[in-house]
Formats: sequence, structure tokens, C-alpha cells
Amino acid sequence: MSFTADRLLLFGATGDLAQRMLLPSLFALDADGLLGPDLKIIGTARSDMSDSEYRNFARAALEKYLPAERRGRMAEFLNRLSYQSLDATTLEGYDALAAKVGTPSQGLAIFLSTAPSLFGPTIKGLQSAGLTGENVRMCLEKPLGTDLASSCEINDAVAGAFPEHRIFRIDHYLGKETVQNLLALRFANLMFEPLWNAAHIDHVQITVAETVGLEGRVAFYDDAGAVRDMVQNHMLQLLALVAMEPPAHFDATAVRDEKVKVLRALRPVVAGETVTGQYRAGAIQGQAVPGYDEELGKESDTETFVAIKAHVDNWRWKGVPFYLRTGKRLPKRVTEIIIQFACVPHSIFAGKGATMQPNRLVIGIQPEENITLSLMAKVPGLDREGIRLRQVPLNIAMQDAFSGAVRRIAYERLLLDLVEGDQTLFVRRDEVEAQWEWVDAIRAGWAAEGLTPKTYTAGSWGPSAAIALAERDGVTWHE
Ligand code: BG6
Repeated sequence: MSFTADRLLLFGATGDLAQRMLLPSLFALDADGLLGPDLKIIGTARSDMSDSEYRNFARAALEKYLPAERRGRMAEFLNRLSYQSLDATTLEGYDALAAKVGTPSQGLAIFLSTAPSLFGPTIKGLQSAGLTGENVRMCLEKPLGTDLASSCEINDAVAGAFPEHRIFRIDHYLGKETVQNLLALRFANLMFEPLWNAAHIDHVQITVAETVGLEGRVAFYDDAGAVRDMVQNHMLQLLALVAMEPPAHFDATAVRDEKVKVLRALRPVVAGETVTGQYRAGAIQGQAVPGYDEELGKESDTETFVAIKAHVDNWRWKGVPFYLRTGKRLPKRVTEIIIQFACVPHSIFAGKGATMQPNRLVIGIQPEENITLSLMAKVPGLDREGIRLRQVPLNIAMQDAFSGAVRRIAYERLLLDLVEGDQTLFVRRDEVEAQWEWVDAIRAGWAAEGLTPKTYTAGSWGPSAAIALAERDGVTWHE
């Protein structure tokens, strides 16, 4: 049954994500008139707070995290908020929570922004209080487990109370405007798709580089590491969007059917196709930063960087490597996808002094949103010996192409879709499990080899072995 929720119940309502992303996004949606007039938002967490204390808490978060130009009048939004304290681990308290939620006239969306260990008890509590009926949908924040087995456990617990079509699993990368733009680029233009295959593409690179370090998430990150924190979810979703077949429609079933086929076609990675690293003290943009073990306060074998040479074993991508890399404390924050085309089959300029370079499409996801296609062009001049060629960029900066458009954070899109019930940009169970299966095998390989991360200096592009991983194949990472 499709409905627009008129109640939103937010678990983890005092947490970091709620403050930094969820409350600001809901406010922004409200300011733009995108939330129905009757939508009520009920926050719940362990701390004791009255409604008005929670409104003050929310106001402080909005003032801290919303850019000044998007703040506007807050009173109306704050009036939508109420709060109920709850110990999610015991059944007591869920009836009071249900009473606070009241009876929605359309439906209820529940957002679990809590530790996954609380998902099971929370679902039980919701069931006991009658909060899992047909007009209730459930949204889950990552991490959805730490491996395939624990992810299945979470998925089973949720499936006990909600059918798949009412489960919304967040991967916030899917809410990013430029990630959706990838689909527009591929499927709203004729010119790329005929070339988008092994016959014309030499390799693909996906980089998600961050300058930040642990950011206070010491215990979580040290348990997770880069491959589980970034590759299992965000990077594999990007890879799936790049590699998937054209879906018949832009809807939840068609898009996710195509993505999962790619994820299932990922070849298990073998020894020598991954490099892990951990940062040591260094400097980023001129500022000294401590090493991982200093930030952590102890020694650890957790990887803060990983590079992987991946393969998608299907007709379209036969023999095309996908080089993935992500890391903390790299020289700059950048997420980009590089499509490196093959060389022209025959150069008519050979012997005329011309150096040919293959075309390259660079899709910048963040911080800059731009698409650059490098083309070969003749250098102007009357050269007697031949023709001089040079690579020139054909560049579309989204900010210029759509000047005046508001830059939205990913959660605005995702929360709106949650309220309205559109699952297209949420991850289906089979996708999450295929992602874990691939990542579990990588980690098992590391454990079997006794692989520990190589060190790299904060502010560098990771261990030199990561550069070698690509260079062995004659590939240079794009910078
Ligand atoms: C999160 C990871 O999922 O994504 C963080 O847990 C990471 O470690 C973050 O910093 C990156 O998101 P974004 O949107 O800043 O690229």
C-alpha cells in the first residue's frame, strides 16, 4: 500500500546523525514546503527530555549545522517535534511511545539511527506496541552488520516484522545529486551507452578520498576499517551504478534488479589485488595531523586506506578492471569516477610526431560536481613536420549549468523519499548481502595471508603499493 507518512518516528533522536543531518534535512524540506502540513516528528532516545527541551535541542542543532542562508524561520518546524524517552532494550516504554506517536491518518515512517545491536530489541518493542502494521515503514541506517552473517541476522529480525517493500535501507551516497546524475548521464544521453563496455573502455577508477581522520568515532571505526566502512556500501553502490545494464524504468524494482546483477557478478578478489594502509602523522593542506594510532590511543591493525582491483565477470565488462581506492587523511576530499576509454584502433597521425592519448571521462561527485571529457585536439600552428595533438577538456560544471540551484544534502532526498514511500534510492536486501559476500571474502583473504596495513603519511595518496597496484597494469591513478 502506498502512502505518504504523516508521522515520522526517529530513534537516536539526540545522536550525531540526527543533529548533523536528519534535523537539518527535515527543516530544509519543511522550509521548501515539501513536508505535508500534518507531518509530526517524534524523537526518541534514552535521555529524559520534555517536548520543549527537545525543541531547544533541535534548534541548537539547526543553528550549528544549517548553513546560514538556509536557516529561515524555525518556529513552525520546531512545532512539529515532540519527544519520548525510551530504553530501547526493554519492552517497557514502547506503549508510551506508541501513545506519543498517536494514530496516523496516513501512515508512520520509522527511522532507526541507532547502533545495529539495538535493531533486534527495537523491532520487538515496536511489535509489542502495535507499531509495525501495514501503514508503517522502516528505515535503517548503516552499518547493517559487520559481515554477511550479522547482516543476515539484522535483515531477518527486521523481516520478521516488515516485508521488504516496507524496508528502506540507507546508503547516503544514493541521495547525492551527482550520484543520481550518473544515471542521467548514462541513460538520458545516447552517446555514451554504445561505448560503455569492454570493447571501448580500458578501465574504470573510483576514488573516495577523505581528509578527515577518526572524527571521534574511535570504537566504531577501529572495528570497521575502510573496506567495511566505505567499500562494502558506498563504493560498491557507485560501481553498480557505473556497471549496470540499462534498467527498463527508473523505479525501485528495475534499478535494483540491475544493480544486484552487477554485485553478484563481482569476481572474488585474489591475493595481490588489494593494498591496505594506515596513516601515520603527517600534514594535510599545511596542517600537521597525528597518526591513526595516536588518534586511537593504541596500536591497531585496522586499515584506514584500501585499494582494490575489482572485476565484473559478465559480457559487458569482460577484462575491464575497476580500480577502487578510499582512505582517510588523504591530500584532499574528492569522490570521482574515471572512465578511461581505449585507444583509437588506428592512428592516422602515426609517424607525424603526434602523441595520442585515449579519451577519459571524469565524473566528479564531490566536492565539485562536474563532468569532464578529455578529447584530442590539434594544437594550432603551421607545423611542417606533422600535426601536434593535445588533450583538451570538455568541461561541464554543474554549479554553472544550474546556477541558482540549491545544493542539497543527501538526506533531504532520502527523507523525502522515505516519507513518500519511494524505494528507488534505498538498498534492497539482496544488494546488501551480495556486497557483504564480496567484502567478507576479501577480509578472509587478508586474514589467511596475515596481511597487515602498510603505513602511509597523512596527506599522501596512500601506501606506494597502491600506486604500484595500478602501475603494474600501466594505469595511473587520476589526480
Ligand atoms: C560514512 C562513513 O558512511 O561516510 C564515514 O562511515 C565517511 O567514515 C562518510 O566519512 C563519508 O561520507 P561523505 O558524504 O562525506 O562522502
